[in-house]
Amino acid sequence: MLAALIALHALTYKLKDQYVGPSFLDGFDHWPYSDPTHGRVNYVDQATAIVNNLTFAEGKTFVMRADDTTVLDPNGPGRNSVRIQSKNMYSVAVMVMDIRHMPNGCATWPAWWTCGNNWPYGGEIDIIEYVNGQSPNHMTLHTSPGCTQPQSRTMTGTTTSTDCDANVNYNEGCGVQSGNSASAGSGFNSIGGGWYAMERTTSSISIWFWPRNSRTVPTVVKGGARAVNTKLFGTPDATFVNNQCDFNSHFQPHNIIFDLTLCGDWAGNNYPASCPSNCVDYVNNNPAAFSDAYWDIAALRIYE
Ligand SMILES: *[C@@H]1O[C@H](CO)[C@@H](O)[C@H](O)[C@H]1NC(C)=O
Repeated sequence: MLAALIALHALTYKLKDQYVGPSFLDGFDHWPYSDPTHGRVNYVDQATAIVNNLTFAEGKTFVMRADDTTVLDPNGPGRNSVRIQSKNMYSVAVMVMDIRHMPNGCATWPAWWTCGNNWPYGGEIDIIEYVNGQSPNHMTLHTSPGCTQPQSRTMTGTTTSTDCDANVNYNEGCGVQSGNSASAGSGFNSIGGGWYAMERTTSSISIWFWPRNSRTVPTVVKGGARAVNTKLFGTPDATFVNNQCDFNSHFQPHNIIFDLTLCGDWAGNNYPASCPSNCVDYVNNNPAAFSDAYWDIAALRIYE
């Protein structure tokens, strides 16, 4: 009985940081640098983002979007967009995000991820990522050499690749594809989104998704509780384990990053499979095509 109580206690995390509406502006920096993934975007600073309403923070709403009004000079900079990075870093933690809408459409490549210093040595955890509006969500680790994942793990998603080493397979990483079509894109947005959670321990990384209409979403997730216990979260959509990957040497403290790039290494290469003309021309000439290219986040809570 005592052992059981201790085990349960060890899995309980307490609220450390809460980002809602304007607190995203205090807790995150806008990152106005050139996109390392070679997208057709121009990441703007916070003042520029706010003046142009690309970043909007009020009450319980935080919105980040790409410009959807400007036709671009093909020889000039890319489409204005937003990338933000948390000031705080986190290691063992649970992150729970209540999200109403994610960027969607041809050329878009949105991501919610965490990343350490000196990439890829500090490790990278991609929680939400998909391209060209093609659901489902992809969950992926990128690391230095010597970290792989078994093909079969306890999760509802499907393994798509097993070597996490960023130096192989063009930085494909070790990936898991969600089995839930509402995990991204129009399926996600049409129901008002839902909740994502990521737990990082010293021996595992797990990711869960519950759609807005889910009957199994834990009350603590739905209600933004002051403490969470992942034991009650059910089978994860994706799980990464440490039996072929020493987490201590592959994962360091991480910043949280949100971004929205257009075209670039993944969305650009994947673009012809489902979208018209070519990616860069489409971005340059069709601002109105990006009116659905926005994040609308109700809350992000970090538990430690
Ligand atoms: C800025 O964006 C927010 C969120 O999408 C929207 O509600 C608001 O009307 C916009 N403001 C202006 C001036 O366009």
